[in-house]
Amino acid sequence: LASTEVDLAPVQLGQAVTVMWRGKPVFIRHRTPENVASARATPLTELKDPATDQSRVQKDEWLVLIGVCTHLGCVPLGQKPTDPHGDYDGWFCPCHGSHYDAAGRIRKGPAPLNLAVPGYTFTSDTKIRIG
Ligand code: FES
Repeated sequence: LASTEVDLAPVQLGQAVTVMWRGKPVFIRHRTPENVASARATPLTELKDPATDQSRVQKDEWLVLIGVCTHLGCVPLGQKPTDPHGDYDGWFCPCHGSHYDAAGRIRKGPAPLNLAVPGYTFTSDTKIRIG
């Protein structure tokens, strides 16, 4: 499918869901105010692939990412509550140990780039269309 509609209404605060889009997993996380605060408190000088948290979201509480590690393409862990979230409140790639933060930015490990943000639009308050 060229584009995918996702209803965000059932995704509770702090939860995440994974949907498939063009054969790739897309991570959608309903961020808590703490997630947002920790992402925004990080100085850009600490980032390998500098980008503000604001530049990676359309609404503070909704983070949408391509769930493919930018090192060699594994799917990072961190979508389930029982998953490891790495050292920075985000995702951990078990293949070679890359840590991504609560904005999906690479913080530690061999991955060179942040998790990509796909093109998407809010079609209502609680629905997005990816692609
Ligand atoms: Fe993720 Fe290597 S593929 S760290």
